[in-house]
Amino acid sequence: MEQSGQSSRFQEYIKNNQERFINELIELLKIPSVSADSKFNKDMGRAAEFLRQKLADAGVDKVEICETEGHPIVYAEKMVDPSLPTVLVYGHYDVQPADPYELWDSPPFEPVIKDGKIYARGACDDKGQVYMHVKALETMMQNEGVFCNIKFMIEGEEEVGSDNLEIFVKNNREKLAADVILISDTGIISVDTPSITVGLRGMSYVEVEVTGPNRDLHSGRYGGAVANPINILCKMIASLHDENNHITIPGFYDKVQTLSEEERKTLNEAPFDLQEFKEDLGIKDVWGEKGYTTDERTGIRPTLDVNGIWGGYIGEGAKTVLPSKAYAKISMRLVPDQSSKEVTELFRKHFTSIAPEGVEVKVKPHHGGEPAVIPTDSVHYQAASAAFEDAWGKTPIPTRDGGSIPIVSLFQKELGLDSVLLGFGLDSDNIHSPNEKYGVFNYLKGIETIIAFHRNYAKIGK
Ligand code: BES
Ligand code: MN
Ligand code: MN
Repeated sequence: MEQSGQSSRFQEYIKNNQERFINELIELLKIPSVSADSKFNKDMGRAAEFLRQKLADAGVDKVEICETEGHPIVYAEKMVDPSLPTVLVYGHYDVQPADPYELWDSPPFEPVIKDGKIYARGACDDKGQVYMHVKALETMMQNEGVFCNIKFMIEGEEEVGSDNLEIFVKNNREKLAADVILISDTGIISVDTPSITVGLRGMSYVEVEVTGPNRDLHSGRYGGAVANPINILCKMIASLHDENNHITIPGFYDKVQTLSEEERKTLNEAPFDLQEFKEDLGIKDVWGEKGYTTDERTGIRPTLDVNGIWGGYIGEGAKTVLPSKAYAKISMRLVPDQSSKEVTELFRKHFTSIAPEGVEVKVKPHHGGEPAVIPTDSVHYQAASAAFEDAWGKTPIPTRDGGSIPIVSLFQKELGLDSVLLGFGLDSDNIHSPNEKYGVFNYLKGIETIIAFHRNYAKIGK
């Protein structure tokens, strides 16, 4: 009785304030906080300051902007009782570049609401999802107060590898002491089928440079007699998958955990409509490693993808040139127990070894991150599962997601803490793509679910 009375009070508060909750998020979305592009450095500071102010307004005891070598981290606390569990909320206020701008139906930093969705860069990843936690705090504070102690750590470099967050975490172990980490930066299967992410892939990211002749050449005078770095690079990249779409780098799969038939069966029981998947993407067929389903290919198997490739002449018309250099950016998604460092080294060794004599190959490692799997038999997971039951009336399905949040394994290692991935995005939200969006329903329901998590976790978390 008590519980349902309480949750309806929260629901009512959210409903009565929903317009303001949405408008505040829109204000945050107007700030172009693109971490990758230094042109937006000032906006990074503005987004951090916005969150600082809103956290203060929502009723934290303490909030500060922690400067780093890169973009600042917003840290806040609401500590009520040392005997209660402490939840450390993590999220990021930085967003991916909005390019290509011309593919957006409305400008990425001028949010609009259409058919119940908020369209803007960062709407789902991750400003909309971070802001749910700020409004969940306000809602609790304006009613009976918080159920657990809460800490907030909102960074500005997630989309560029979280290098400075790693340093911050290592230097602030005591300050960050908590019982669990709560993150809303993932998705659910659909609004009818809520789910909780229990697996994230790791990552190795490299940039390769292939150099042929010492200058660009006339492609008639020299073509056929000198190795063309673009031709060579394409051939080298093509050789990285075999006819079964298996990755050919020696040792690449050595540390990959194999799941039991039982585990694979459970994973494939999650609702998935292949036809819908194909239609949504406008493809006739799916592609991937032989012997695995689509959910397995993204959830439990490692991959290698070219993210960008360039070189030579790409301007208007035709220029007959045999270029001196070719480049590519390549990402590898990793699964337990692969290590980012080891895989990057395996790649470097293999890729340089397959280069023909006529070219020189350089491999430059970018950021990496380790994979993570979250146990479902923990009190954290149970509190999250119960939160979905309270707010959605359904038991969520555990899923393995293909994306990466490298700090999840870092928190595990540095702070000894498990994360709960209480995310509410949808595949159709177009994160990292043009026309990113976030459902108003997901936003408001997410706030309710977060509050239910705190309430459930207070009872079983310590
Ligand atoms: N929120 C995403 C990660 C994500 C997306 C997890 C969808 C599960 C489902 C995060 O902001 C992100 O984009 N991470 C990067 C990694 C980072 C090192 C650049 C990614 O996965 O590409
Ligand atoms: Mn994110
Ligand atoms: Mn992202």
